Amino acid sequence: MLVLGIETSCDETAAALVADGVTVRANVIGSQVEQHRPFGGVVPEIAARAHLELLLPVLDRTLVEGGATYDDIEGVAVTVGPGLIGALLVGVAAAKSLALAQDVPLIGVNHLEGHVFAAQLEYGLLEPPVVALVVSGGHTSLVLLDVDGGFTTLGATIDDAAGEAYDKIARFLGLDYPGGPEIDRLAQHGDPEAIAFPRALLRRDDYDFSLSGLKTAVVRELRRRQGAGQEISVPDVAASFQEAIVDVQVHKTLAAAREHGVEQVAVVGGVAANSRLRARMAEACEQARVRLLAPSPGLCTDNGAMIAAAGWNRLVAGERSPLDVAADPGLAFSGPRG
Ligand code: KG4
Ligand code: ZN
Repeated sequence: MLVLGIETSCDETAAALVADGVTVRANVIGSQVEQHRPFGGVVPEIAARAHLELLLPVLDRTLVEGGATYDDIEGVAVTVGPGLIGALLVGVAAAKSLALAQDVPLIGVNHLEGHVFAAQLEYGLLEPPVVALVVSGGHTSLVLLDVDGGFTTLGATIDDAAGEAYDKIARFLGLDYPGGPEIDRLAQHGDPEAIAFPRALLRRDDYDFSLSGLKTAVVRELRRRQGAGQEISVPDVAASFQEAIVDVQVHKTLAAAREHGVEQVAVVGGVAANSRLRARMAEACEQARVRLLAPSPGLCTDNGAMIAAAGWNRLVAGERSPLDVAADPGLAFSGPRG
């Protein structure tokens, strides 16, 4: 079954064609980074307008690259939430029109579920149970994908999302937007033990995360050093900050896998592109004899292929969304399927 996936929940206008839930025929991303860069973050109104301008050209390119026509599409999957309402509405409206015009089933997909199923595009059909760390610009959650296909949220951030923390600290350090990749790059030349930043909630035996204290600690430490006339090594700050985030993420993910007796761990979402997180997670999984599913960075950040993959799973299970399905900016992870 050839599924068209559409993703417009934030600042990437993305579409993809995926065959049988695993084979990417085309995966096109119309990035809006340049439009948002002057503001150092995503501006919702700009995102919605840019989606309107970009979506049709992105769909055309997807078909050309996939060597397909609209008549070849057998199902349409679209992100219905969580995300920015104005941005979501553009993709949802387009998906409904296409499903209606082509008379093919429509399936609304949870963006976070999409991130988890990105793993399927590289590792083949997922065989639950899987514990997934979903870390992106808007989300930080630890979820359990059950054998029945349902999701349970084990924990989540109680304040900032991981990507948000990377982006805010990067801005504070005067780095380019988006900041995550910049910190990742700089950290490779820094000492992760140079500054002992706090590891929030590390010792608590739940799966929640907190990042605002770390952010404040970085700002305070930099001001203190500036005030004392000390030289500041930006790579050291980047490496130490990154290490504090990664430590907690790795520890909690493996603790969750252990507690639930799960032997597969997935690391997904934009922040899963982080090279230190990938390396440390690989090490920890090897030690714990747990299989690591870490899709390549291009599939970690927002894309349409992950939405098509997640949608395909639901379509083959017989699920359909009505043509009046609503976009839901605060959509939560769903319970068991059906
Ligand atoms: O999943 P995504 O593309 O969009 C959302 O759904 O939010 O994630 C974007 C986030 C941004 O905050 C960006 O700074 C972060 O992912 N990111 C990274 C890296 N690459 C992207 N953070 C840390 N290290 C990276 N290499
Ligand atoms: Zn995302």
